[in-house]
Amino acid sequence: MRVLGIETSCDETGIAIFDSEKGLLADALHSQVDLHKTYGGVVPELASRDHVRRIIPLIEKALADAGCAGKDLDGVAYTAGPGLVGALLVGTSVGRSLAYGWDIPAVAVHHMEAHLLAPMLEEESPSFPFLALLVSGGHTQLMQVNAAGDYLLLGESLDDAAGEAFDKTAKLLGLGYPGGAAMSELSKKGNSGRFKFPRPMTNRPGLDFSFSGLKTHALTTVRDNDDDEQTRADIARAFVEAVVDTLLIKCKRAMQETGITTLIAAGGVSANIQLRAGLKKMVTEQGGRVYFPRPEFCTDNGAMIAYAGYLRLKAGQKEPLAFAAHPRWPLAKPA
Ligand code: KG4
Ligand code: ZN
Repeated sequence: MRVLGIETSCDETGIAIFDSEKGLLADALHSQVDLHKTYGGVVPELASRDHVRRIIPLIEKALADAGCAGKDLDGVAYTAGPGLVGALLVGTSVGRSLAYGWDIPAVAVHHMEAHLLAPMLEEESPSFPFLALLVSGGHTQLMQVNAAGDYLLLGESLDDAAGEAFDKTAKLLGLGYPGGAAMSELSKKGNSGRFKFPRPMTNRPGLDFSFSGLKTHALTTVRDNDDDEQTRADIARAFVEAVVDTLLIKCKRAMQETGITTLIAAGGVSANIQLRAGLKKMVTEQGGRVYFPRPEFCTDNGAMIAYAGYLRLKAGQKEPLAFAAHPRWPLAKPA
């Protein structure tokens, strides 16, 4: 089965073609980072308009890279939510229309489900059941994944997502947008131990998170100290250590509570090298195994949408022609 995947939920136009026998045949991406940089964050209307400009040329490029045409495809998968409604509508309407024109089925994909399944695109991929730490710009969730489509929400952030905390703190330190990767780089030059940030919600039971306090802590630390490069690096270091530690504590707790020792991490923040190293160490010590997508499939991309769509089409999912975008869309059953 060969599926075209379309991702337009936020500030990346991602298009890919996944073949169930041959793997990924094409993977094309246009990032809008330069477009939104001046504004310090994503401007929804600019995002939608840019998706409109980029989507068809990128689909044409992906088809050319894969050496195939619409008639060679068996389905179209598009992100229908969660995300920015205008941006989602671009991929949704283009995906549905192409599928109608090519007379093949189209399936609506949940963006976080696609992140969650992204590690399965790798050669070494996890088998069910596993725990999933989803850490993106909009979500921080811990899930129990029993099978594709069978998700139990074990915990989530009550306020900011981990990526959002990274971005807000990065902005405070003058690192621009999006700041996650830049924070990670700066923190490498920082000294551990000069500043101590809290590990929110770790000293009480449960698997929920809260990251908005870390951003406030960063704000007061910046205000109360000299504004030099080393101080900024030391703050970045303390912040990264606090986020990583907090995520590790909750993942370890989830492993102990469920008895499941296979863990995956996905979403933009799972590209973070400190988090990847910390998870590897912790999970190995627990006698388990951890899986990640390759770094470019941690952040938004079309490949994960094509793959999630392939699984849904294979499972026989059929949808009517009418389409909808879902800016908010729960994925899992509450535990
Ligand atoms: O999954 P994603 O591309 O988009 C959403 O679905 O939100 O995640 C984007 C988030 C941003 O907050 C970005 O700063 C963060 O992932 N991010 C990172 C790193 N790379 C991207 N955070 C920490 N370290 C990184 N290396
Ligand atoms: Zn994402």
